[in-house]
Amino acid sequence: MGGTTNPQSGGERDSAGGAYSVAILGAGRVASAFASALATTPDDNAGPAKRRLRWIGCWARREVQALSACGRALRFEELATADIVLLAVSDVAIATLAKRLSSLDLKGVKVVAHVSGAHDCSVLAALEGRGPALARMHPLASVPAVAGSAEFLVDAPCVLSGDPAAKVPLTALANSLGMRPTWVGSLDSSLYHAAAALASNGVTALVDVAARMFAAASDDRLGLDVARSLASSACQGLARATPEAALTGPVRRGEFAVVRRHLDALRGSSFEPLYVAVMTAALEVAIRGGLENAAAARIRTLLAGEVRDDDSDNDSDSVGDSDGAAR
Ligand SMILES: NC(=O)c1ccc[n+]([C@@H]2O[C@H](COP(=O)([O-])OP(=O)(O)OC[C@H]3O[C@@H](n4cnc5c(N)ncnc54)[C@H](OP(=O)(O)O)[C@@H]3O)[C@@H](O)[C@H]2O)c1
Repeated sequence: MGGTTNPQSGGERDSAGGAYSVAILGAGRVASAFASALATTPDDNAGPAKRRLRWIGCWARREVQALSACGRALRFEELATADIVLLAVSDVAIATLAKRLSSLDLKGVKVVAHVSGAHDCSVLAALEGRGPALARMHPLASVPAVAGSAEFLVDAPCVLSGDPAAKVPLTALANSLGMRPTWVGSLDSSLYHAAAALASNGVTALVDVAARMFAAASDDRLGLDVARSLASSACQGLARATPEAALTGPVRRGEFAVVRRHLDALRGSSFEPLYVAVMTAALEVAIRGGLENAAAARIRTLLAGEVRDDDSDNDSDSVGDSDGAAR
């Protein structure tokens, strides 16, 4: 396929010469991040990899929205002029828009991919046998609705799955945008997406809860700022070490008395079940990291609510130090 030009969109199909043309459906968070990354011209210090892409534009159900998201609004039929068509729309809209795409002449399109973690390629079933390879291109990044969101794609893992013919074009696209592509072929989508939700939304929610606990503990002198900083330093530790090596704190040190005081402070509050669930998971990491069995067993009993209030024998820290400071 090479050298055809759509005069309406200005999009060239010249992948034979080494460039893939790309069009996007949607104008939300992810569509805008992709669009602004793709809209950067080679002259904008994009480097040679970016020259392998030719951006066509966005289609959105409201043209004005597409224009503000990506500066180049497409008519629906123009999507068929791209080598790669990305569906960056709400998960519930993917199947409907795939059906609408199937009404176009798609014989020139190499790949139609959605960017959802929650769905496999069966959500594109309406396009089966229509020509394009069908795939998922899921950026493992939490992309907010902010200016400059293209930066959130840089260095993010990008999980690719679907028809093998999609592998080369989508790998080139991901590499060109500075992402780290991994072709996985197939996935247990629900389990995979639950993991993605925990690692991104879970961290956000945990920071929010910790911020409210800081505020409650300090008459509002502390809050989101310190919670965010602490979470950020934990993530920096994780960037350099395994969870076993990165984990700090009283559970890792086996400090029964400190964990007990935490639980006493939280008893009956909405924070208690979350603390117990997260610290139970932390305990498993601590055990793998070398926490002694006896200390682990005492803390497990405590977290399971199996220690009596008058159980003073257990109320000392025979293992590890007991200064109680977050370390
Ligand atoms: N945000 C992230 O961090 C992230 C990360 C990885 C993957 N994803 C995936 O990226 C995709 C988009 O998510 P997002 O966060 O970018 O969502 P978003 O900001 O809410 O944007 C959703 C877009 O889909 C459009 N849309 C919804 N229903 C439609 C329909 N029936 N027909 C046409 N357009 C429709 C919306 O248009 P209107 O504004 O007109 O409703 C909007 O442009 C989803 O598959 C999501 O799972 C998101």
